[in-house]
Amino acid sequence: MRLHWTWALLATILSSLHVVTASPRPATPVERRDDPPMPKETKYFHEPGNDDILGHYDSRYYKRVLGYDERLETLRHMARAYLKFFAENNLETWIAHGSLLGWWWSGNLLPWDWDLDTQVNTKTLFRLGDEFNQTTHEYSPEDKSAKRTYLLDINRFSRFRQRGEAKNIIDARWIDMANGLYIDITGVSELDPDKEPGMLSCKNFHKYKVSDLYPMRMSTYEGVPAKIPYRYLDILVKEYGNKSLVTIEHEGHDWDEQQKAWVPDEQKVAEIARKKEERRKKKAEEKQRKEEEKRRKEEEEKKKKEGK
Ligand SMILES: *[C@@H]1O[C@H](CO)[C@@H](O)[C@H](O)[C@H]1NC(C)=O
Ligand SMILES: *[C@@H]1O[C@H](CO)[C@@H](O)[C@H](O)[C@H]1NC(C)=O
Repeated sequence: MRLHWTWALLATILSSLHVVTASPRPATPVERRDDPPMPKETKYFHEPGNDDILGHYDSRYYKRVLGYDERLETLRHMARAYLKFFAENNLETWIAHGSLLGWWWSGNLLPWDWDLDTQVNTKTLFRLGDEFNQTTHEYSPEDKSAKRTYLLDINRFSRFRQRGEAKNIIDARWIDMANGLYIDITGVSELDPDKEPGMLSCKNFHKYKVSDLYPMRMSTYEGVPAKIPYRYLDILVKEYGNKSLVTIEHEGHDWDEQQKAWVPDEQKVAEIARKKEERRKKKAEEKQRKEEEKRRKEEEEKKKKEGK
């Protein structure tokens, strides 16, 4: 355990100074853990494709590409069910990446997103692996729509904090078992306590100072209590640039200041979806063509050899 009592003290002082509600006691984010040697890396989570559309489903539960409304409904319930489960089990988690940008704008997800992103510290991640791996969780949405079931799946390689071959940068997933959409959960940990004390990293080059993240702010996301990193603005500007905080048109949606919401322009949204699907098909066809060509050549070679 390497969390410094000074930090806990500082956090207490800070939380009493600011209007934000901080975690009563910031869970110890920093833990020294001598990494065991990593076994040969194989990809743990699988998706039906790696493009913008198919890359956001879990292969085990993917049936078809969802339409705009069902996707949003799925993601909203998913966010609420996830946050509720984590809170009930005293598992610390916070909103990250594109989901954090969505929170900054409206307190909700970005309606053009295909997945959600959260983070946990490795203390929580290891607990998830030990106590909750491959558990399923039922959730009844308040709007009385159909019950949802989620699989909480913890990557085998989450116990190893090196980036490795980058096949396993996602540490865990919260997956809607009805259609395969998911929340990507990544852990952050202190990788080099001697050279970079207090620097927390995920496996994908994102780095945070302990003081960027803690003390967490209490807010809401999709109407449910959620934790937000302390220096959310710095984090967002670093990851997405200043532009992401002022651009009011994106992916066929316009920012409506009155409603404080991103409103879809249906025509533009449909057009973008159509183009994306076209690109995806073209790529798939190209791939198939190349594979056939390869097969054909191999067969020719074989025939040549046999002919000799
Ligand atoms: C979670 O369970 C799966 C299936 O048994 C296993 O392959 C995986 O290694 C487990 N994850 C962890 C972190 O132990
Ligand atoms: C964002 O804007 C501030 C002030 O306008 C500037 O100092 C900073 O360099 C900008 N950051 C990025 C990432 O563009």
